[in-house]
Amino acid sequence: MPTIEVIEGDITSLTVDAIVNAANETLLGGGGVDGAIHRAAGPRLLAACRALPQVRPDVRCPTGQARITPGFDLPARFVIHTVGPVWVGGGQGEPDLLASCYRESLRLTLESGVRRIAFPAISCGVYGYPLDAAAAIAVRTVRAWQTAQPLRTVFCCFDASAASAYRRLLERDD
Ligand code: APR
Repeated sequence: MPTIEVIEGDITSLTVDAIVNAANETLLGGGGVDGAIHRAAGPRLLAACRALPQVRPDVRCPTGQARITPGFDLPARFVIHTVGPVWVGGGQGEPDLLASCYRESLRLTLESGVRRIAFPAISCGVYGYPLDAAAAIAVRTVRAWQTAQPLRTVFCCFDASAASAYRRLLERDD
């Protein structure tokens, strides 16, 4: 039976199979959760990302897609890097791209034997996606992800307001 839970904390501290990184298309690190994950994983993470093939100059992971690397010094075995859309008002395909981030990250759990995965609030920081709208897409996409394997999904929120937004959504069944 798949489970979904919400916690408030630092995703780099979680002992799960995979944590998801809200990265940028270069996969060469940044601020926010990307910076925290690279700091905690150590320099081998950047080397592993740099070794991933570029699909076009300076792009290793196009927006909406996901790539997997080891977690190195993190408690998590893997990091799944995904690139959320920058919010530009909602009319440029942002909702579909954000849903794709969750779906493509979940798809990578199939081939890597990941049973417990933690997501940050993708695109809700620097990329400016409104939290309630992003959380609704996250919950709807994870709920729709039905596979044979029982997957445990954690929404790891960095602050109380984000955690309460996710909890409000999970209390509704729609
Ligand atoms: N653990 C969990 N969540 C975190 C952590 C952490 N250690 N640090 C930040 N967050 C939360 C933020 O509070 C926000 O809700 O992650 C969410 C996503 O925010 P960002 O990290 O800014 O990511 P995003 O909005 O997707 O922007 C991505 O920022 O860091 C750069 O390289 C990254 O260019 C990319 C862009």
